[in-house]
Amino acid sequence: MEIILKSPSEIEKMRVAGALAAKVLEMIGPYVKPGVTTLELDEIMQDFIENKEHAISACLNYHGYPKCTCISINEEVCHGIPSPARRLHEGDIVNIDVTVIKDGFHGDTSKMFIVGHDTTPQRRSLCRCAQESLYAGIRAVGPGRNLRDIGKAITPIADRCGFSIVRDYCGHGIGRGFHEDPQVLHYYNDLSVILEPGMTFTIEPMINAGTYKCRVNHKNGWTVTTKDKLPSAQWEHTVLITDDGVEVLTLRAEEDFPRILKTV
Ligand code: MF3
Ligand code: CO
Ligand code: CO
Repeated sequence: MEIILKSPSEIEKMRVAGALAAKVLEMIGPYVKPGVTTLELDEIMQDFIENKEHAISACLNYHGYPKCTCISINEEVCHGIPSPARRLHEGDIVNIDVTVIKDGFHGDTSKMFIVGHDTTPQRRSLCRCAQESLYAGIRAVGPGRNLRDIGKAITPIADRCGFSIVRDYCGHGIGRGFHEDPQVLHYYNDLSVILEPGMTFTIEPMINAGTYKCRVNHKNGWTVTTKDKLPSAQWEHTVLITDDGVEVLTLRAEEDFPRILKTV
């Protein structure tokens, strides 16, 4: 395992890429409404990323992935492929995951949207629990802390809600590469990685209402669903370990969470 520490000038580029990924999620919010298709949303984001922000999607053509973003509905855990056949309905819960490359560096972030006016108590609780899990994971990191403190922080939150934590997919180092070392596990584990200033990685817990077990759609080779077809929720941020804490590179204005946390 080789974790790439970012220099001050590289960190500045990570801030720009992170801010841009966050901006895409802010921009698309008003379009996430009953009746829209996931392909329409993807096309709006692609146009914004390429033509307005002069950046590129990291997902498009990544290991053959065919679209600009991932849009995962209800029992879809991640890697939902935007499609003209997928229309959003009142009460759906939808994850939109955006990864951009700007000036050679990646910014990766996702959030849940509730479509229309409301959804079921279970779906609402799941979305909230997954966001709490992300925030607890961010609060657990800083220089000198251990990467496994993320899983240690998230596990009791999921337990308390009666939900499960996906094990097949994890967060990742990020920088010039989309998926760099280390792997960031969101469940209780005893892998030891001491965190250092200059590390950049994602925290992206996927929380399932029922079993943590997942299936990959064998027709398209990408879309991951829960094995029991119960819903799943995910939120993702790209973070930087600083000299005295952590900085959230993909924070949105709507969030009730600090951009900079001091831990030492
Ligand atoms: N953005 C996802 C992540 O959080 C990865 C998507 S890869 C794709 O790591 F090819 F499916 F787009
Ligand atoms: Co992502
Ligand atoms: Co990611």
